Amino acid sequence: MDRVYIEDLHQHVGSEVRISGWVYHLRSSGKIKFAVLRDGTGLVQCVITESDSPQAFEVFGQLTQETSCVVGGVVREDKRATGGHEILARSIEVIQSPESYPISPKEHGVGFLMENRHLWLRSSKQNAIMRIRAEVERACRDFLDERGFVAVDSPILTPSASEETSTLFELDYFGSKAYLSQSGQLYNEAACMALGRVYCFGPSFRAEKSKTRRHLTEFWMLEPEIAFGDLDTVFELSEGMVTAIIERVLERRGKELEILERDTSKLEKVQAPFEKITYREAVRILKEKGFAIEFGDDLGGDEETALSLAFEGPVFVHRYPAEARAFYMQPDPEDGSVVMCTDLLAPEGVGEIIGGSERISDRDLLEQRIEKYGLPKDAFRWYLDLRTYGSVPHAGFGLGIERTVGWICGVRHIRETIPFPRMIHRVYP
Ligand code: 4AD
Ligand code: MG
Repeated sequence: MDRVYIEDLHQHVGSEVRISGWVYHLRSSGKIKFAVLRDGTGLVQCVITESDSPQAFEVFGQLTQETSCVVGGVVREDKRATGGHEILARSIEVIQSPESYPISPKEHGVGFLMENRHLWLRSSKQNAIMRIRAEVERACRDFLDERGFVAVDSPILTPSASEETSTLFELDYFGSKAYLSQSGQLYNEAACMALGRVYCFGPSFRAEKSKTRRHLTEFWMLEPEIAFGDLDTVFELSEGMVTAIIERVLERRGKELEILERDTSKLEKVQAPFEKITYREAVRILKEKGFAIEFGDDLGGDEETALSLAFEGPVFVHRYPAEARAFYMQPDPEDGSVVMCTDLLAPEGVGEIIGGSERISDRDLLEQRIEKYGLPKDAFRWYLDLRTYGSVPHAGFGLGIERTVGWICGVRHIRETIPFPRMIHRVYP
């Protein structure tokens, strides 16, 4: 008898198989007992009768939610059943009988579920989100690998900030200061001068002190960087990548989107090219909507939501004021008050999922910016070197995995899009 995964049952109709899993749900109807099992790949109902198997019938009495067990039986096609198949049980072997399981199908508060995240992950919706996340990650890598990008891993322990210094996680590095990486970008810049087109994919850390639905203190970012690239390169590559991700998830994760009750018609409409508006236009739209915003202010969560709702599909907002942005961004040659950067806002009120820019390639200008931002020049010696030895224009962006997964899954708060979320008040489990 082969061990079979529930997702592969269709290949075994009429055969006797073994399913190794956990009890998801139990019920009885007269002399027939039903145990729904999950094994991580799906759910299947096992039908247990005394005449078919006195052994299984007796063991059924010991089963409770999350009992781990191995069920042997014959696979039968049943269009009405979850997954389209049933198992006529011949035997049940209990591996471990759990204590009363804390998570039942009834509604629990988010605080309780977060405290039990290690168990919550077993539920169908969380399972679907994790599978979609894995698909998104794979789609990103495939997209870039197929286009000749080289994956270059960036360090996690770093000597300096790449984004806002106020969100740095500082640690003691054998008596001197080091920080957890906020972004692999600066190292990508070195790598693209060596390899042409590169990307890094890894965790990013930011001591975000505010509690919002879009901020984690540990999140994953996919960051491509292109030597000789510019803002147009960022537009094209990021819209190509986003449409490829959506297409891939629609093609391969339809079942999971259905479990999440996601309205996929909204995702099907996502087509390149995306709308592009300047920051100045964004300010105008927001003012019309009654926001008290002036040139120079960064766009906050509410502003992003409002803009995102004003467009059908994703929208690029580009050329933000220099003072609202990071030190490394190239000024617009036609308007020195703004920089050559863009954020991509996902629709349906989601907001920013991508941030990218052209980088300063002139050494003197970069030195001035480092000084102006009060950054320690010494830690940036190597970064300045990139502008000394064959400097070229270059550009890149970062796509936040959790925000992208949240948008695709239709999950409002990104805490559910990462296996173990880290937030200002949560570092357990
Ligand atoms: O806009 P950000 O800060 O850009 C950078 O870090 C650049 N260095 C990237 C680059 O050009 N290589 O972050 C990029 C994306 C955001 O659009 C968002 O999706 C995500 O990373 N992000 C977060 N996601 C969850 N929690 C947070 N605290 C996040 N901060 C940024
Ligand atoms: Mg940003």
